[in-house]
Amino acid sequence: MKKIAVLTSGGDAPGMNPAIRSVVRTAIYYNMEVVGVKHGYKGLIEKDFFPMHRGSVADIVQRGGTILLSARCEEFKTKEGRKKAYANMKEEGIDALVVIGGDGSLKGVQKINAESDIKAVGIPGTIDNDLSCTDYTIGVDTAMNTILDAINKIRDTATSHERTFVIECMGRDSGYLALMTGLAGGAEYILVPEIDFTPQQVCDKITQGFKRGKLHSLILIAEGVKAPFADLSEYNGSPGMAMGDLIREKTGMETRVTVLGHLQRGGSPTATDRIVASRMGAKAIDLLLEGKRDKMVTYKDNSIGCCAVADAIEKTETINMDIYKLANILSM
Ligand code: ADP
Ligand code: F6P
Repeated sequence: MKKIAVLTSGGDAPGMNPAIRSVVRTAIYYNMEVVGVKHGYKGLIEKDFFPMHRGSVADIVQRGGTILLSARCEEFKTKEGRKKAYANMKEEGIDALVVIGGDGSLKGVQKINAESDIKAVGIPGTIDNDLSCTDYTIGVDTAMNTILDAINKIRDTATSHERTFVIECMGRDSGYLALMTGLAGGAEYILVPEIDFTPQQVCDKITQGFKRGKLHSLILIAEGVKAPFADLSEYNGSPGMAMGDLIREKTGMETRVTVLGHLQRGGSPTATDRIVASRMGAKAIDLLLEGKRDKMVTYKDNSIGCCAVADAIEKTETINMDIYKLANILSM
């Protein structure tokens, strides 16, 4: 293994920079050459390559986002697009590739391993924490802390006005972010795509809470919630907005909605994100040195390991019902 490339792909996540830093410096430590690829898979197709040295990753451990820039690239989903990418990598003398990204990006890793002799491995980088075989994906801790900060602030104003607030958070199809921050933030109700609910149940709990003397009601809803709303198009796809309307209609209570949006993806990575990213970056290089391919780095029970990419993107893990029940009990 002489020359490796590294790229970030899909939605950016805080902690991608410390992961890049770790990949680059570990590879150089083992006498490899490192090529940085800009704009994710698009950069492979357009040969947007540049040599990386120890200094290329100086002063980035604390920065959110990704210095390599990220993108979503439809062309890489086509055989023709990928052929261009393989030819560019061959021309550059690249033997292996480290991809930092979410489940879509990992599908790209699978394709590279199946269709070329370039050894590709993945590092889970997404705020959604929606991959199997790993307890943790880089960025989720920072995103949870950002959401918690928002919940705390909304709680102040909700209490002062004795209002109900619906707070919509990201997560794509996963309710992980909503569940964990709902527990940590003391939300009255947590609405996730994995668990059925009726708007009436939510309204009843809000009403009972106010009757018992609660001064506010915070409803955390994941952006992936679809049922029980018939049509979200009039709400610009936002289940939070739809829920807010339903609560107003059914209870007559003063209700406000906050869609947290992309602020959840930014910010300086937390200590946990930096530590896990640093460990994962080094592990990706270890895997390549061992001659492995088509693996994703994992973090389970405080240990860094790996799994087949196919297992990581298979949707086997679902919401933790014990945590959901606990959040419910604690918010009564
Ligand atoms: P994430 O990696 O955060 O889940 P996406 O799902 O948008 O983000 O995927 C990022 C990129 O990975 C896509 O824009 C595309 O370039 C690549 N990708 C996704 N799915 C595939 C696939 N089936 N085959 C090849 N490349 C893919
Ligand atoms: O996958 C990360 C994520 O932030 C999801 O939580 C969200 O659904 C999506 O990306 C948003 O993507 P975009 O930045 O393209 O709007």
